[in-house]
Order: sequence, then structure tokens, then C-alpha cells
Amino acid sequence: MGINMDFAGKKVIVTGGASGIGKAIVEGVVSAGGYAVIVDLNEEAAEAVRSELGKDNAAVYKVDLSDAEEIRTVFNCILEEQGQIHVLINNAGIVSTVPFEEVSQKEWDRTVAINLTGVYAAMSVIYPAMKEAGYGRIVNTASVAGKIGGGLLGTSAYAATKSGVIGLSKAIAKEGAKYGVACNAVCPSLTKTPMTANMGEEKYNRIVAGIPLGRPADPKEIANVILFYASDLASFVTGEVADVDGGITMD
Ligand SMILES: NC(=O)c1ccc[n+]([C@@H]2O[C@H](COP(=O)([O-])OP(=O)(O)OC[C@H]3O[C@@H](n4cnc5c(N)ncnc54)[C@H](O)[C@@H]3O)[C@@H](O)[C@H]2O)c1
Repeated sequence: MGINMDFAGKKVIVTGGASGIGKAIVEGVVSAGGYAVIVDLNEEAAEAVRSELGKDNAAVYKVDLSDAEEIRTVFNCILEEQGQIHVLINNAGIVSTVPFEEVSQKEWDRTVAINLTGVYAAMSVIYPAMKEAGYGRIVNTASVAGKIGGGLLGTSAYAATKSGVIGLSKAIAKEGAKYGVACNAVCPSLTKTPMTANMGEEKYNRIVAGIPLGRPADPKEIANVILFYASDLASFVTGEVADVDGGITMD
């Protein structure tokens, strides 16, 4: 008997599902028989992904993840309209790339709002519903930056939010375990997405030189690991922080 990643009958929220790693996750969910709930600010791109997948296989909700109140409103609406949510993948994020002394209060606040408070606000709606259902799998996209203090592309503000996501994921894993709610974090390194498309050749070469596998990841290679943690193949795993970084971390 082969091993299958099966999302049949599962509803899976993917934030940032309109682009890059999120889009690859959404494609994986649908190809494994699941229903994807794409949450993104870019509604047009999200609708284009939905059309590619077949409209019956996915829904789109427009949310600005920098706004915690809006997140709560829309995520409550998702629960009302979609019923049980089996999986939440908090994947959307923005990068902050300037040296510490150039981080403005505005850039700090926006990075924290989207990358960390946004993850908290989404879970504040979905976690209690999963707990009540007695089943839930949450996967949060962190970053190698959250483990090593940034320095590849993302810098201090980015690293701080991703370390926060790692701590938050472990805390949810501890509290959720006895209710059937698992929570894991995945830490990618350089991945070929719109986020990293315009960094310039010098920076790109410097980052790749620090990756033992000697190349950036394809979004699908990150999505594969996120989907594993989202699936029941990972039924005995919670609170794990998975490096998907081409060998940078090795801890
Ligand atoms: N690409 C990399 O090299 C890399 C490395 C490590 C970690 N990550 C993490 O992976 C995740 C996905 O990154 P990606 O490279 O696919 O990025 P991306 O820029 O290709 O996609 C991000 C998606 O999030 C959405 N988004 C951004 N801000 C939003 C907001 N305020 N409200 C709602 N949606 C919003 C965008 O519209 C987009 O669809 C992020 O959390 C990122 O930090 C990426």
C-alpha cells in the first residue's frame, strides 16, 4: 500500500494563497482532493488561482491581514459560510530588508502586524472552533530568519516576527494537544517567489552561496513539507519547527 497525502473532505484555509508558496500549497490541497479557502489581500490574483483550480474546489476571501479586527470579522464569516475548518495554514507574510538602524516605527509595526499579530488574530477565531470540533491542524510559515536572526534577505523586524511565530506555534501546540489540535511551524530559506524576485544579483549570489544545497527552493518544495504537517500523515507530530532551508540550519 502506498502512502498518500489525502485531503478528501478537508477544508483548508491558506493565507497568502494567491502567490508564491501559498499558491503552491493551494494547488497541493486541491490535487489531494481537498477544498481550499484562499485568504489574500490580492483578490484578483486569488480569483485567478481559484479559476485555475476549478471554482468548485476553492473559495476566496479578501482580507487585509494587517488589520486584526478585519481578520476576526472575515474569519468568523468563513466559519459561518464554510462550516468546519480542518486545517489553517498561516502563510502570508511580508519581508523587511533594511539594516536595524533604518527600520522605521512604521515598518516595524506593519511587519509585526502582518507576520505575527495577523497569525494570532486568525488563530484566535479558528483555534476555538477546532478545539470544539476536537480536530485541527495548524501550520505556520515561519522562516530560517526566525532561527538565525535574519541576515539572508529579511533582517531584524522580519526575524523578530518569525521567531515570534515559532514561539506562538509551540504554545498553541502545547495548549491544543489534548483537544486534538496540532500546530507546527515550517522555516523556509530562499524560495523563488515574487517576494524574492527583485533582490539583485549580488545579494542573490551571496545568499545562494550560504545554502549547502547550492540553490533556492521551488515554492512546491516548501509547500510539500507544509502539506505534510497539515495532513494526517503527521498525526503524531505537534510543536515541531521544520527547517526546509537547503541545509542552512542543521540543528
Ligand atoms: N520566498 C522566500 O524566500 C521565503 C523564505 C522564508 C520564508 N518565507 C515566508 O513564506 C511566506 C510566503 O512567502 P512568499 O515568498 O510566497 O511571498 P509572496 O509575496 O509570493 O506571497 C505572499 C502573499 O501574501 C499576500 N499578502 C501580503 N500581505 C498581505 C496582507 N496584508 N493581507 C493579506 N494578504 C497579504 C500577498 O498578496 C501574496 O499573495 C511568507 O510568510 C514569507 O515570510 C518566504
